[in-house]
Amino acid sequence: MRIIIAAFVVAGALLADAGQKCTGHPRMYHGKKCASTTNYADYHKGACGCGPSNNDNQFPWNHSGFVVAANQALFDAGGGKWCGQSCGKCIKLTTTGGFVDGQGGGVAEGLSKVFMVTNLCPNEYPNLSWCSQQGNNGVNQYGYGWHFDLENGVNQITGMGWNNPEVTWEWTDCDAGHAQDGRTPSNSMYHTCQCGQHGKK
Ligand SMILES: *[C@@H]1O[C@H](CO)[C@@H](O)[C@H](O)[C@H]1NC(C)=O
Ligand SMILES: *[C@@H]1O[C@H](CO)[C@@H](O)[C@H](O)[C@H]1NC(C)=O
Repeated sequence: MRIIIAAFVVAGALLADAGQKCTGHPRMYHGKKCASTTNYADYHKGACGCGPSNNDNQFPWNHSGFVVAANQALFDAGGGKWCGQSCGKCIKLTTTGGFVDGQGGGVAEGLSKVFMVTNLCPNEYPNLSWCSQQGNNGVNQYGYGWHFDLENGVNQITGMGWNNPEVTWEWTDCDAGHAQDGRTPSNSMYHTCQCGQHGKK
């Protein structure tokens, strides 16, 4: 009987490992929603069309700014791959000081940065382990209900010492983020994206 209960707890709650500070299902920290993060470098305009309409290139700010690819459920609850409802919206990520054992490293707690959603991290190979929340009752393989893949085209993420940190996240205003250091895209920058035109937002 005891063994059956333990197996149920592991499958249902994905117990946190030593590096993680967020707990529960989905993981939370001090009442805030937690997310896992990774980083990547990409030169395409992405799923919000933040590049010229006649080719697949991206605007320079989508390579060097603070922009993210969001997991499918956050990007578009309906499962769409283009112009999801989160395109051009901004999130504030704040480090918890935690990380997933073997997948990242520690960084100080309480560092915040504002990012614009400009791309999708789909529920597809090779993105399933981080970006799919389908297989585990709404969390990814590491227990998080949300995932953000951070554009690191000019080492803007690793340059801050962020090595796939665990974060809390909340919606915030893009223009306020842009005012901080100019590297979070502003609302008017988003309106130059293909999904930012024709009132789609
Ligand atoms: C910038 O746009 C391209 C379009 O795919 C996307 O692939 C690239 O990942 C974007 N950068 C980010 C972080 O969204
Ligand atoms: C998603 O897949 C792309 C390749 O298609 C890869 O570059 C990227 O790092 C992956 N991101 C995550 C979080 O799995």
